[in-house]
Amino acid sequence: MFGRSLLKQAAAPALRTVAAKRTITSSRIALSDKLFVHRDTSDNNASVKFEFSKENLERAEEILAKYPPQYKKGAIMPLLDLGQRQLGWTSLPVMNAVAKMVEVPPMRVYEVATFYTMYNREPVGKYFIQLCTTTPCQLCGSTEILKTLESTLGIKVGETTKDGKFTLVEVECAGACVNAPVMAVNDDYYEDLTSDTTVKVIESLKAGKPLKAGPQSGRHTCEPKGRLTSLTSEPTGPGFMIRPDL
Ligand code: FES
Repeated sequence: MFGRSLLKQAAAPALRTVAAKRTITSSRIALSDKLFVHRDTSDNNASVKFEFSKENLERAEEILAKYPPQYKKGAIMPLLDLGQRQLGWTSLPVMNAVAKMVEVPPMRVYEVATFYTMYNREPVGKYFIQLCTTTPCQLCGSTEILKTLESTLGIKVGETTKDGKFTLVEVECAGACVNAPVMAVNDDYYEDLTSDTTVKVIESLKAGKPLKAGPQSGRHTCEPKGRLTSLTSEPTGPGFMIRPDL
């Protein structure tokens, strides 16, 4: 107990210094109501009609065919994704349509849709921007990128521009830390961002001519920015570090 409290005291100033720079409370507070609870609105209630398009129905059939009939429910996630791609967001009627398709009570689908943040249960802009602000991205300047996005778009995190074109959200690690800082625009990742390149990406989207996704620094993918720092010598051959008599 004594040792632990000493450790706590030692860690406290360091934590305070980090926290003083930017804490999670500096972002828009994600209300639990928004995350988990459904409230009927004029465009999001059970009486609003939603049907998969003919093309998507065919795609849904292909998805369902991957699962044994008794495990149809395994297709809930890809079908929700399909519905979201068609409508632009995952409304209650989308979830109900998926539940009907996989023959489960709607609640089973609501549970999935409310658990995974990839399902937007409110309408989002044409360009859905997800900026990663987790530690590696933060160390590489995501705070600056966030400020740039907010000022260029004229919105705060969690908001959509008036013309309905852009929605900005913060996300946890996007899984591309080696190319930090990173933002996803719909399905595309824009990486190695600086304030300047972020503005260029946004301007290109506004103009309807999106820049090529990927690193904006000139890197091809995630190769070293400078010279090689590992695997620089000839590989050792067979028998390396093995006793000669073996
Ligand atoms: S921390 Fe940003 S991509 Fe991993």
